Amino acid sequence: MSSKKFAKESAVIMTEMVLPNDTNTLNNLMGGKLMHWMDIVAAIAAQKHSNSIVVTASADNISFQQPIALGNVVTLKAQVTRAFNSSMEVFIEVTAEDIPANKKVMTHRAFFTFVAVNENNKPSRIPELIPETPEEIENYEGALRRRQLRLVLAKRMKPEDAVELKSIFNLD
Ligand SMILES: CC(C)(COP(=O)(O)OP(=O)(O)OC[C@H]1O[C@@H](n2cnc3c(N)ncnc32)[C@H](O)[C@@H]1OP(=O)(O)O)[C@@H](O)C(=O)NCCC(=O)NCCS
Repeated sequence: MSSKKFAKESAVIMTEMVLPNDTNTLNNLMGGKLMHWMDIVAAIAAQKHSNSIVVTASADNISFQQPIALGNVVTLKAQVTRAFNSSMEVFIEVTAEDIPANKKVMTHRAFFTFVAVNENNKPSRIPELIPETPEEIENYEGALRRRQLRLVLAKRMKPEDAVELKSIFNLD
């Protein structure tokens, strides 16, 4: 396996239509259904980067600011932003489209983290990711401080070791 891959090689686009079985009692998409779709599209992107089985390690805060209505077409785009040792961060962007009304809005953005695992469910090494476009480079650079923040919150990293975070909050 190549030890380096381009960010764009992991890109995935998934399209769904909101059907009655996907909605709450207000006829809007259930939050849990959307998270299920986000998990799937992001897992596929992580698999494409790592060529491995992957498991979801974390999902960063997802806020539901506007409802997605029954009949809307939901497009989920996912791409790996950065690969670490066995884990990778995936950026997901969701848009909802009312095709008859010709209206399309970006509704959600989120970062999920996946870990590549081997046949014994142990984390395994993944290829390095190479960002190319300005957006990919920005996401790549931000991924290190987001990783440190989520590892501190998960109590997997001591706050004093989160060097990238210290630089944001001017703690030195
Ligand atoms: C994720 C998992 C594989 C980590 O295993 P582990 O034995 O703790 O392994 P490690 O401590 O070596 O961590 C492995 C990687 O996971 C990352 N990781 C672990 N917990 C994390 C978290 N909460 N958020 C982000 N990354 C995390 C580590 O930073 C490390 O990344 P790196 O290898 O790139 O440096 C393990 O916790 C697991 O299997 N969890 C369940 C996954 C699952 O079932 N998901 C579906 C949810 S129902």
